[in-house]
Amino acid sequence: MASILLDGNKIAHQIRMEVAAEIETMRAAGIRPGLAVILVGHNSASEIYVRGKVKSCEELGIYSEKLTPPDTVSTEQLLALVEDLNRRDEIDGILVQLPLPSQVDSKEVLLAVDPAKDVDGFHPVNVGFLSTQRPGLVPCTPAGVIEILERSEIPIAGQEAVVVGRSDIVGKPVAMLLLNNNATVTVCHSKTHDLQAVCRRANILVAAIGRPGMIRREYVTPGATVIDVGMNKVTDEAEFQRLFAGNRKREETFRAKGSTLVGDVHPEVAEVAGAITPVPGGVGPLTIAMLMANTVKAARLRRANRMREMSRT
Ligand code: GUN
Repeated sequence: MASILLDGNKIAHQIRMEVAAEIETMRAAGIRPGLAVILVGHNSASEIYVRGKVKSCEELGIYSEKLTPPDTVSTEQLLALVEDLNRRDEIDGILVQLPLPSQVDSKEVLLAVDPAKDVDGFHPVNVGFLSTQRPGLVPCTPAGVIEILERSEIPIAGQEAVVVGRSDIVGKPVAMLLLNNNATVTVCHSKTHDLQAVCRRANILVAAIGRPGMIRREYVTPGATVIDVGMNKVTDEAEFQRLFAGNRKREETFRAKGSTLVGDVHPEVAEVAGAITPVPGGVGPLTIAMLMANTVKAARLRRANRMREMSRT
C-alpha cells in the first residue's frame, strides 16, 4: 500500500498567502513587520537556512536585516547586539541562528532576546507559555508539524503520538504541542529501551533525531502518519545505497551533485505508512512559513495598541 504524501510546499504556500494578506492589512495601517537575523561565522548549513529566511521576507514585503558577526564574537558582543535590536521599534522579530560557536554562551544569548520579539520561541518565557497553554510565540518547525497534521485533516486528539528526539528546538516543543492538542504523547531518546516497540505504538510518529534513515519499516505500524523532521545530507556512496538503491531519480541527483538530502525516516517506510512527509518538500518549507507567520504575529501583538489608536483617529 503506497502512503499519502503530505505536501509541505503546498501547505507552506497556503500559510504564506494568509500571512501576505495580513501584511497587506498592516501596510494599510502604516506598519511594516521587520525581522533581524543574526548569523555568526560561516556554517554552510546555517548560511543556506538564513538565505532562505531573508529571501522569504523579501517576497512577502517583510523588512529584514542580516547581522553577520565573525565566528570569534564574544558572548558580551552578541548580548550588546541583541539588546540594540530589542530597543529598535522597527524590529518585530529577532532570530539568532544556531548553532553558535563554542566560546559563546548560547543560553545567555537566547535569554537576552525580548520574549515579545522571540520569533523562534526559544526564550524560557515562551517555553513556559507553551507548556501552560498561554498565547505566545511557538517554535517554527514544531508549529509547522501541527499545521501539516491539521491542514491534512489528520486527527490528533486521543491519538498515540510518539516523538523520537528531545531537542529544545524540535522534540520537546512538538511533544508539548501534541499534548496541548490532546494526543497521548511519548518522547523517546538515545536511552529509550526497545525504541522499535515504542515507535510501533504510534498512530502519529514524529522523527527528529538527526540520523539519516534511522526509522525503518519495522518501527512503523501499518497506516500510521509519519512526520519526518530530519534533514541530513548524504555524501557517502554506501550510505546512499543503503537508503536509495534502485531509485533512479535520486541516483541522478546524487551523481550530479555528489550529495542528496534524506530525512530520519528510511524511504521504505512510505510502503507501510498511511501518510508521510517527504524529504525534501515536507516539514522543511513549513519552518520558514511559520517564521514569517511568527514575525507578523509579533508585529501585530507588539503594535496592536498603536493600530487600535490609529483606527480611532
Ligand atoms: N538551527 C537549526 N534550526 C534552527 C531554528 O529553527 N532556529 C534557529 N535560530 N536556528 C536553528
